[in-house]
Amino acid sequence: MGLESGECVKVGVIGTGHVGLVTCVTMAAVGHEVVGTDNEAEKIDLLTAGRPWFFEPALEDLLKEQLSSGRLTFSTEPQQAIEDSQVLMISVGTPPRASGEANLVAVEKAVQTVARYATKECVIVEKSTVPTGTASRVRLTIDRMYPQNAADLHVASNPEFLREGHAVQDAMEPDRILVGVDSDFSRETLRTLYSPWTRTGVPLVETDIATAELAKHACNAFLALKISFINSVAEVCERADADVVKVAELMGMDARIGPHFLNAGMGYGGSCFPKDLMAFERLASQLGCDFGILHEIARANERALDRVFEKIGDILWNLEDKRIALLGLAFKPGTDDTRFAPALALAEKLIAVGSDVIGFDPVAAEIVRSDIPDLATTTNIYEALEGADCAVVCTEWDEVVGLDLRRAAEVMNQKVVVDGRNVFEGEKLREHGFSYFPTGRPRIVSE
Ligand code: UGA
Repeated sequence: MGLESGECVKVGVIGTGHVGLVTCVTMAAVGHEVVGTDNEAEKIDLLTAGRPWFFEPALEDLLKEQLSSGRLTFSTEPQQAIEDSQVLMISVGTPPRASGEANLVAVEKAVQTVARYATKECVIVEKSTVPTGTASRVRLTIDRMYPQNAADLHVASNPEFLREGHAVQDAMEPDRILVGVDSDFSRETLRTLYSPWTRTGVPLVETDIATAELAKHACNAFLALKISFINSVAEVCERADADVVKVAELMGMDARIGPHFLNAGMGYGGSCFPKDLMAFERLASQLGCDFGILHEIARANERALDRVFEKIGDILWNLEDKRIALLGLAFKPGTDDTRFAPALALAEKLIAVGSDVIGFDPVAAEIVRSDIPDLATTTNIYEALEGADCAVVCTEWDEVVGLDLRRAAEVMNQKVVVDGRNVFEGEKLREHGFSYFPTGRPRIVSE
């Protein structure tokens, strides 16, 4: 049977990305003994020195604290993370294949490694977002390749609901914890693992494994749906001279709709929504289901970005040689992650038609440089605005929201702001002589 509530659980975490590393530090913070492993030695060296290899608020302090507590260690040797562990969290990458399907090669390899080195009865937990049915594949792999260990290796699903930029807080204070299990050992062990949370009132929802796997995809798809819905409403608002911010506010006051994820803008990005949507769509079609809305969500997201591009062209006339400052490159504030970032997709479109594009970002400027060599980048927002014909708000960083408008007006070539995140008040911009083009709201054009 499982462990007693309150016991320290030995946890091995395979993969130290956004989900894996946050799992390592937060599990250690509540008193568990954690070994994190990754096959990239440089990452492990940085982590052992107390330095996360990506930017995430509050992570570095907690990492340092847990390393000194002695409860958290890192190793490139998976064996060290696996042997003796009672819970093995698989948090390796699941990038999209060209077909949209999730590439689960790293998951399969991680499972094989766990099955090879596990020395005691343990739970192998899918922490990465995976399509429904993955646990059955994992089970089959273990049964076929490691039949001698199979009875001691339990498989469970425990999807993560972390938002980048708030990951530590989300892990420490989640709305709910979801575990999909098919054995008493898994159920009891995961109850113990999460007892520091459930004792404080966080609900622990237990389901079968397929339901847990599917629920994660359903949550992300629904959140993306809300964003694409409001972005499509924004397009109509722009043409009808209505205000999408007011429409969203009104919609959000209906408790059945709720106020969150109704901020219109230039679309969602990041490593989760675009990838999970593709994988969910692919899964539904493989199962013979016609889930056309999923395709429309992604299409509306592309449209939101295209609209910004068209708008800039409409405002500036010819885009060739126009200097355009993109304010924010990360897919959202609080992270240096630029995967599927709308700002980068916009930069590529503008560069392709001959614009001179410069991107400001307080943390992602350096990272982007190698991805798009023709995109100049800076961590100084006024340098980005110097001589610009248009500033486009792509990410609502504090530096963007708190922009000194007088200074911006002084350095720009044309006082034009396209607001892809609706962070500014149009009247304030007008006072400084700007023409302001928000998303789904009436434009304010200064003469
Ligand atoms: C998302 C989910 O919010 C998490 O619950 C989930 O755990 C995670 O994916 C995951 O699957 O791992 P994340 O991708 O970090 O988290 O970021 P979000 O805060 O959800 O934002 C995603 C994108 O939507 C951003 O580009 C953001 O700018 C955009 N967005 C968000 C809008 O355009 N409008 C909104 O109203 C909200």
